[in-house]
Amino acid sequence: MTPPPVTSQTPTPAEPVLEVDGLCTEFTVRSRGLRHTLRAVDGVDLVLRPGETLAVVGESGSGKSTLARSILRLVEPAAGRVLVSGRPLADYRDRREVYRDVQMVFQDPRSSLDPRQRIRAILDEPLRLHLRMPAERRERRIRELLAAVELPETVLDRRPAALSGGQRQRVGIARALAVEPRAVILDEPTASLDASTRGVVLDLLARLQRETGLAYLLISHDLQAVRRIAHRVQVMYVGRVVESGATEDVLRHPAHPYTRALLDAAPVAVHGGHTRTVRLSGENPGPFDLPAGCALAPRCPLAEESCRAGRPPQLSFGGTHLAACPVTHRQVAADLSATGSERREKEHPDDPDDQ
Ligand SMILES: Nc1ncnc2c1ncn2[C@@H]1O[C@H](COP(=O)(O)OP(=O)(O)OP(=O)(O)O)[C@@H](O)[C@H]1O
Ligand SMILES: [Mg+2]
Repeated sequence: MTPPPVTSQTPTPAEPVLEVDGLCTEFTVRSRGLRHTLRAVDGVDLVLRPGETLAVVGESGSGKSTLARSILRLVEPAAGRVLVSGRPLADYRDRREVYRDVQMVFQDPRSSLDPRQRIRAILDEPLRLHLRMPAERRERRIRELLAAVELPETVLDRRPAALSGGQRQRVGIARALAVEPRAVILDEPTASLDASTRGVVLDLLARLQRETGLAYLLISHDLQAVRRIAHRVQVMYVGRVVESGATEDVLRHPAHPYTRALLDAAPVAVHGGHTRTVRLSGENPGPFDLPAGCALAPRCPLAEESCRAGRPPQLSFGGTHLAACPVTHRQVAADLSATGSERREKEHPDDPDDQ
């Protein structure tokens, strides 16, 4: 038997498959004859490691899909960096080369799968174009892919319209896996499915991840799906990350008022039971005419003068749990010290001048 390789180093966390630093993506839009610059993604950072699922959540228009499209170079970012396994995206020759490493599964397989092609051709294409695999190996690989997503070989001669929604999404997943990418971006992968199929597809994704060590960037409105398969969560509001951390920390102890409001609107099954509910005023304005400070300030019942002055920093709520809200940070610190030693309270008696 060969002995295991000897390393002098202590094990370090696996190298990230995807790193995003300060990503900004802008669109120019016309409104009443005037041109405006809309910043759909505004300074987003993220790190995704092998075998990990990072969920990106937030209301419609918060920039989730634009973030995904920027990572795949479907839209050119205005600023920031994307690294795939340490390699800058800008160094990739073209989009096709990016697709070898990062694949995408879309919300609605009806529009992402070519309706004229049979399933065999849909799965054959990435093997032929991206991997340049010879024909006999492609046929074998197609059968392996079908088995991996638990589809019968009878689907090979059918077209997408002849399949159920769940089967179509399995084809979408098989197509993404075909090139053995390092990471897959799942943009609302279960939104077009009924509730029972949704769970089955999520479990399939989780199993494939365990077997292959794939990393997922899961974009979803569905907090139940997030709780089921995501290890970590980032919450976005109008293009900015407002909170991030381990899924259970964020869903059970949401720190940012926006996350609290998002969870208050979610079904009981995902609501972690936090007690500080938040009612925001007005609608999400989208990334237009944002204030200088915290983007949520105009809608936030907790907002103070300082929130409007400058953009709040990411503050630690314990471990890797971060949120950009100094007000709730202070509240949580006060709660902790109130439940802590009474001695501390005696050392700092109420000072009537100290308001
Ligand atoms: N091609 C585009 N041209 C102009 N504006 C765009 C374009 N794509 C997106 N936007 C705008 O950018 C903002 C973010 O959109 P995006 O689609 O990324 O949000 P999202 O979080 O994915 O929303 P949803 O949950 O509805 O999918 C929105 O205000 C949207 O209108
Ligand atoms: Mg979207």
